Amino acid sequence: MRVLITGASGMVGQNLMRHPGLKRYDVLCPSRSQVNLLDYPQVEAYCREHKPELIIHAAGKVGGIQANMQFQSAFLLDNMDMGRNVVRAARQSGIRKLLNIGSSCMYPRHAANPLREEFILQGELEPTNEGYALAKIATARLCRYIHAEDASFCYKTVIPCNMYGPWDKFDPTHSHLLAAALYKIHRAKQEGVDEVTIWGDGTARREFMYAGDFADFLIYALAQFDNLPDMMNVGCGFDYTVNEYYRAVAEVVDYRGGFVHDLSKEVGMKQKLVDTSRLRSLGWTASTGLAEGIAQTYQWLMATKGEHFR
Ligand SMILES: NC(=O)c1ccc[n+]([C@@H]2O[C@H](COP(=O)([O-])OP(=O)(O)OC[C@H]3O[C@@H](n4cnc5c(N)ncnc54)[C@H](OP(=O)(O)O)[C@@H]3O)[C@@H](O)[C@H]2O)c1
Repeated sequence: MRVLITGASGMVGQNLMRHPGLKRYDVLCPSRSQVNLLDYPQVEAYCREHKPELIIHAAGKVGGIQANMQFQSAFLLDNMDMGRNVVRAARQSGIRKLLNIGSSCMYPRHAANPLREEFILQGELEPTNEGYALAKIATARLCRYIHAEDASFCYKTVIPCNMYGPWDKFDPTHSHLLAAALYKIHRAKQEGVDEVTIWGDGTARREFMYAGDFADFLIYALAQFDNLPDMMNVGCGFDYTVNEYYRAVAEVVDYRGGFVHDLSKEVGMKQKLVDTSRLRSLGWTASTGLAEGIAQTYQWLMATKGEHFR
């Protein structure tokens, strides 16, 4: 099967590109300079010329809480435009299968945990990432509408929890919690700083999946595409507190300093744990433990000599 992967240079894309299971597919992975996904005619022309049978839409404008708060309009516009362009071009050029990658940010801020797929659009969104979430929801709904209008177009959305791993962004101005913790703790150790600051009191709970596991899921999903529901969470099934993530990173980095809390900072939702009932019925579970995933990410960072502190 010929598969088009958007966002192949990103964290999800790079982990997928290196998965041995991808060798079974004829893969198209144009870079941004080959196809700018913000430009609809370019996307449609590429789809018509190369005729993929399935698209994995893994491109996006992605960042942590700081970047999302500062650039709400860009997170909304870029993600909405990319989602709209990819899904619309797929339909216009007759591509029948599409796997859209959503995000657990799509869930309402006060929804009960674990977050079940049917909770989407049942309440107010988390304000710190509202622009991003609106764009992700709009793209997921577009996939659903197209399938409802013509069932031969199977456009489905998977909703991963937070992720981390090789090819993540590590600079805290752009990064998610776990990568930011790795960056800050590594720097503190290098510079002999004996305290690292954690935003908030550290009791918020988050679920993080190793990106290599998510790549493994995507390979599984390619083989099981027809059995996937229209929308499905992809998570580990358990979460940790922010403080626990910092301690786990300190252990791997062998950082002996302490932590202080900056209570003036935004921390987002108190908990964001996705329900994995649908995923378990499909027969897939993540296999990389937290310490192992952090150690592999840190080894990768050290092997690349910090050049990926982007
Ligand atoms: N990271 C997470 O924790 C997480 C959690 C849940 C869901 N997700 C979702 O998973 C997907 C992938 O995330 P990620 O972490 O891999 O993000 P990432 O590392 O930031 O990668 C984003 C990818 O999108 C590409 N891209 C951005 N704008 C583009 C444009 N205008 N034209 C063409 N390509 C463009 C980037 O290309 P360049 O290299 O040219 O910039 C890059 O390949 C996103 O949909 C994200 O919302 C991520």
